[in-house]
Amino acid sequence: MRTSRVMVAVLGQLATTVVGKRTECPSNACASLAAALPGDVAYPNTTSYQQANSYWSARQAEALPDCFVSPKNTEAVSVVMKILTARNKPFTVKSGGHTAFMGGSSVTAGVTVDLANLNNITVSEDGQTVSVGPGNRWIDVSQALDPLGLAVVGGRAGDVGVSGLILGGGISYFSERKGWACDNVRNFEVVVASGDIVNASPEENEDLYWALRGGGGSNFGIVTRFDLASFEQGDIWSSSLVFAGALNTTLIPLFQDLTVNGLPSDPDGHTYFVLTHQPAFGGYIVLTSFFHATIPSPPDSTPPIFTPFRSVPGPLFDSTSVVNISTQSQSINIPYGSRQTWWDTTIAATSADFMVEIVSLFEARNDALFAAAGGSPVVPFLNFQPISTNVLSAMRQRGGNSMGLDASGGPLMIVQLTVSWEDPSLDAIIEESLQELIGVIERRAEELGLGNGFVYMNYAGSTQRVQHRFGPDSEKRLKAIAKKWDPQGKLAQWRGYFKLED
Ligand SMILES: Cc1cc2nc3c(=O)[nH]c(=O)nc-3n(C[C@H](O)[C@H](O)[C@H](O)COP(=O)(O)OP(=O)(O)OC[C@H]3O[C@@H](n4cnc5c(N)ncnc54)[C@H](O)[C@@H]3O)c2cc1C
Ligand SMILES: *[C@@H]1O[C@H](CO)[C@@H](O)[C@H](O)[C@H]1NC(C)=O
Ligand SMILES: *[C@@H]1O[C@H](CO)[C@@H](O)[C@H](O)[C@H]1NC(C)=O
Ligand SMILES: *[C@@H]1O[C@H](CO)[C@@H](O)[C@H](O)[C@H]1NC(C)=O
Ligand SMILES: *[C@@H]1O[C@H](CO)[C@@H](O)[C@H](O)[C@H]1NC(C)=O
Repeated sequence: MRTSRVMVAVLGQLATTVVGKRTECPSNACASLAAALPGDVAYPNTTSYQQANSYWSARQAEALPDCFVSPKNTEAVSVVMKILTARNKPFTVKSGGHTAFMGGSSVTAGVTVDLANLNNITVSEDGQTVSVGPGNRWIDVSQALDPLGLAVVGGRAGDVGVSGLILGGGISYFSERKGWACDNVRNFEVVVASGDIVNASPEENEDLYWALRGGGGSNFGIVTRFDLASFEQGDIWSSSLVFAGALNTTLIPLFQDLTVNGLPSDPDGHTYFVLTHQPAFGGYIVLTSFFHATIPSPPDSTPPIFTPFRSVPGPLFDSTSVVNISTQSQSINIPYGSRQTWWDTTIAATSADFMVEIVSLFEARNDALFAAAGGSPVVPFLNFQPISTNVLSAMRQRGGNSMGLDASGGPLMIVQLTVSWEDPSLDAIIEESLQELIGVIERRAEELGLGNGFVYMNYAGSTQRVQHRFGPDSEKRLKAIAKKWDPQGKLAQWRGYFKLED
């Protein structure tokens, strides 16, 4: 009796071992997912696979997964997490798919978890919280909130996914008053590496809550719901002025002064500065964009902080409108289909001269790039985006975020470099030129005492060490939190965005 019981136990053990071994074969992950979630798995060469393989940057769509799995609720995400981690299967997670580089939210020989079906949007009865599924895009959120006279601190372009933007930070039209998107999350529902479903808020698992605000998702878990703080908001005032590139030396001092003196005096304002080369406009142009959360009177007048730009003669384009967020955010979508790369660094915002110097470095680099491209289209952008003192103080709410920005560091300027192009044979040349130019700008900033070193995750190039740039305290804390929530390091198989390095 006893012996046979033992035998049964031993056999059982053996069986588990054999099955266990078999289940660890990564190539069967898709079959297991399909068995557990019938109808939610898409294999290559099917219409649903082709539909799922849709990304803003053409480079991302070139990584072809073994299958896409599209869970329909949080429990299904938990099942997916358990199957993938049990098999050590490489995987990635896709929300709006707006990462520029290949593999940011796509994977070769792995599984892509497509969150598109998790698209609920629920407004709380008191109107102060909007619960948003991670498969939504910002246009979905604003189309739900605009008619209610509500808004959230969210993305500025309608087509971008909610998840990547919030988890990496999230610069919004309302950031001067309220900080970045991540600073305005009340609670995250998260499926962690074990498959457990947990909440992260200032009251519950506040370590995870801190990490998910700016530290990205891929080291911690799959967020299945964002509870966002909402507020009353009508239409916004929006104005764009385009000038010839030669006016950069006039416009940059105005923009630098707006950052350092204007924005702190008016938290309803928001702005960014774009310099790009557009052959259709005859060469370089500067696009200055201005926003205001309250409408000036009369509505076609200009809020005082922006009026200096009105005195610059000869705009090529000048538009002012009063719009809802849905209309505004759709107007700045960037079309799909090109190859893209984004890189960034951050400098002190205290020197207009250095910003002008960056323009000349950018211009010289572009000449080399255009020559290398031999006439094939290459469109470079240099964007300046302020992190004003208002933003820095608003980032301290709810216990602060993980990005390591110090309010005493003074106003900062994100220097964002992007390129879009068509010819895949230029990929390496373009990536190298961005890496090099970022390096040149960082070394020059150090020389001038204007260095900061912060790298914003959502604008970063694939090889930039983002969390390292948050500073040693933040990086150490992020690593400890990742270890606590994923003690076996299972999420090492999650490919893509900015992993914490050993
Ligand atoms: C046209 C355009 C406009 C933009 N405008 C802004 C702007 O106004 N402000 C701003 O701050 N940034 C902006 N960005 C940058 C944007 O924040 C990032 O590209 C962001 O990663 C996009 O999020 P996504 O969900 O679309 O990306 P995805 O590529 O789908 O995801 C990005 C990363 O997040 C991970 N991830 C996705 N979903 C989850 C989840 N639920 N849980 C855990 N991890 C997850 C993915 O695995 C991936 O690593 C813009 C980008 C573009 C292309
Ligand atoms: C599936 O599509 C890929 C890429 O389009 C192609 O190379 C492959 O031959 C196709 N496989 C089948 C079984 O049709
Ligand atoms: C979406 O909302 C509905 C209604 O509140 C709810 O029944 C459903 O479970 C939600 N789905 C998800 C994925 O959260
Ligand atoms: C936004 O404004 C436009 C133009 O006035 C209007 O047509 C549209 O319905 C509005 N959108 C929402 C979601 O309220
Ligand atoms: C910036 O302005 C200076 C002075 O007008 C001009 O020489 C330079 O070409 C401009 N740079 C760009 C990129 O337009």
